[in-house]
Amino acid sequence: MTTTPTRRLLPLHTDVRHGSRSHMTCHFRCGNACDRPVPNTTDNPEFHEIAATALARRSLIKTAAVGAGALTLTGVAAGQAPLAAAAVSARGAGGWAFTPVAPNRDDKVTVPRGFRADVLISWGDRVEKGAPRFDVRNQTPEAAAQQFGYNNDYVGVLPHPTKQKRAVLVTNHEYTDENLMFPTGTDADVVKGVAMASHGLSVVEIVRGARKGSWRRAKVANTTLNRRLHVGSDFELVGPAAGDDRLKTSEDATGTTVKGTLNNCSGGRTPWGTILSGEENFNQYFEGTRPAEYEAEYARYGISGGAGRGWSSIEPRFSMQNEPNEPYRFGWVVELDPYDPTSTPRKHTMLGRFKHEGANVTIASNGKAVAYMGDDERGDYIYRFVSAGTFDGSGTRKARKANMQLLLTGTLYVARFAGDGAEDERYDGTGRWLPLCSDTESFVEGMTVADVLLNTRLAADTVSPTRMDRPEDVEVNPVNGRVYAALTNNSNRGTTFPADEANPITTSQVRSAPDAPLTSASGNRNGYVLEMTPGNDNHAGTDFQWSLMLVCGDPEAPETYFADFPKDQVSPISCPDNVAFDGAGNLWISTDGNVLASNDGLFRVPTRGPNRGQVQQFASTPFGAECCGPFISDDQLTVFLAPQHPGETDGATFEDQSSTWPNDEGFPRPSVVTVYRR
Ligand code: FEO
Ligand code: CA
Ligand code: CA
Repeated sequence: MTTTPTRRLLPLHTDVRHGSRSHMTCHFRCGNACDRPVPNTTDNPEFHEIAATALARRSLIKTAAVGAGALTLTGVAAGQAPLAAAAVSARGAGGWAFTPVAPNRDDKVTVPRGFRADVLISWGDRVEKGAPRFDVRNQTPEAAAQQFGYNNDYVGVLPHPTKQKRAVLVTNHEYTDENLMFPTGTDADVVKGVAMASHGLSVVEIVRGARKGSWRRAKVANTTLNRRLHVGSDFELVGPAAGDDRLKTSEDATGTTVKGTLNNCSGGRTPWGTILSGEENFNQYFEGTRPAEYEAEYARYGISGGAGRGWSSIEPRFSMQNEPNEPYRFGWVVELDPYDPTSTPRKHTMLGRFKHEGANVTIASNGKAVAYMGDDERGDYIYRFVSAGTFDGSGTRKARKANMQLLLTGTLYVARFAGDGAEDERYDGTGRWLPLCSDTESFVEGMTVADVLLNTRLAADTVSPTRMDRPEDVEVNPVNGRVYAALTNNSNRGTTFPADEANPITTSQVRSAPDAPLTSASGNRNGYVLEMTPGNDNHAGTDFQWSLMLVCGDPEAPETYFADFPKDQVSPISCPDNVAFDGAGNLWISTDGNVLASNDGLFRVPTRGPNRGQVQQFASTPFGAECCGPFISDDQLTVFLAPQHPGETDGATFEDQSSTWPNDEGFPRPSVVTVYRR
């Protein structure tokens, strides 16, 4: 092999970022999605278009009780029975009293006094038996394929099937940052091979520690479930579009088997004990030029060729000239059964193809499995799937097998939000789920079922859904039954995308330095948390009510809103990304891209009672990192978070790092952290 400089030269950027993310993060994670034209060029009508200023005053008005009463979700509880979800402790995460962490730019995980944060597992740690010890200066693809991958994002923890003191940790590895991972001069082919092996997912057995709420990794030799999945692993395409001609390649004449998964961002735990993982910015991995026959289709997904990661020199399929269909084989929701280390994870075509942030399943009152999903792009949509079959909560092996078929057949919908006007001085209204196709019937004129599932964005464009501000995690609160969606930001709201009542902010207050005053920036820079209440308490119905529970930002900024909680008693919060819930129904929010000149972090906010809207910062992540995860353990004793891309700041290199978290080894390691009471 030739030794060539591996430093990936970033395009010269003199512009200002759209969030606070560095040029490096934008380049490596999403292929500079925000610098490209927005892929959604439709002119879908915006509903109740309003001037944001007219609504900025509504936070002075008290919120009326929202929607219907609490939903009963006995199906979910029953579904978790075989996996023994522990009873909720009243003194656990939901009831923890803590003094909020102050915004900071420290290169560490900061948690409130009285809590402890331990690193559970880091990039390079051994996962599979036989994995070598990590050596950053002698990385190989073979070693990386058995070690914990880079840039952990989603975190899910499931009960161990046989050992009470153990649990099963599943994480996504979204992307790699070659500038920070490899010493200058590392062989170019090694860089590419290690990068491919460092994407994907990890399954890791963990063991309760001596301190209550603490966890450690099980000795690799004593595990049976530990597993790494990466770009070289086998995946199966399932559902109505599997086998379509557009999914066939020279390596796979059946259109049903795929090597690898890409850019796995967030995910969710299903009631039947599997993990769903979203393939997000998959568009940036393909080189060459768009095939003429897919010009419009690929453009709608931002698949532009050109940049890529140079992987086609290792695997020709990453050039669209060699394999024009390969991009169709990514952009799906992956389902992994962590309890069967020999199982082939499935890519579910029935859940549509877009830049999946993740997918979260709940069981509707009529027993249907309902998956909520966000398409993380400026101006793209929120989706929902409703199964044809019903969930079997009996907890038997046979029931689990049947439940694992629920995502294969059903109906896929996209959301349209209608505001009810500015008169009530709040951002709220009604919504409707618009059907796109079932497994047997397309509801989009001129498109077959396979057309809708393969080119879901194009299908949705035809039914006038609402163009949202980067929909990320969408998840049901198991206590109150409402659906919460993180809408991270949209620098183009107010320009490319007119304001509407669900996406109202066109001018934001941001901060350029910790001691700098707030200044105005165009667009929605700090994001929202959207709360949806299903009509008739039914997640499988077509109608819902919605309101913006949080308009994020610095509480001193006039546009911010915290569900009517007094603004002088909340933490600043910017760019919500992932959400989770504790046993008391409190919402936990991790952030990505804080534009208030402090590190990202983890926040807790009650969704009911007198403290509804009281946003409190629970943790801050290391310098340059975003806060992924979060996950609250079933026993409510541990908060898992996953600082991703520490030190990914402009100008940083392997030799000149801006973070050395967590080990002070001279380079940073993305890691999963557990936080618990001292
Ligand atoms: Fe990978 Fe939508 O964040
Ligand atoms: Ca209103
Ligand atoms: Ca995310």
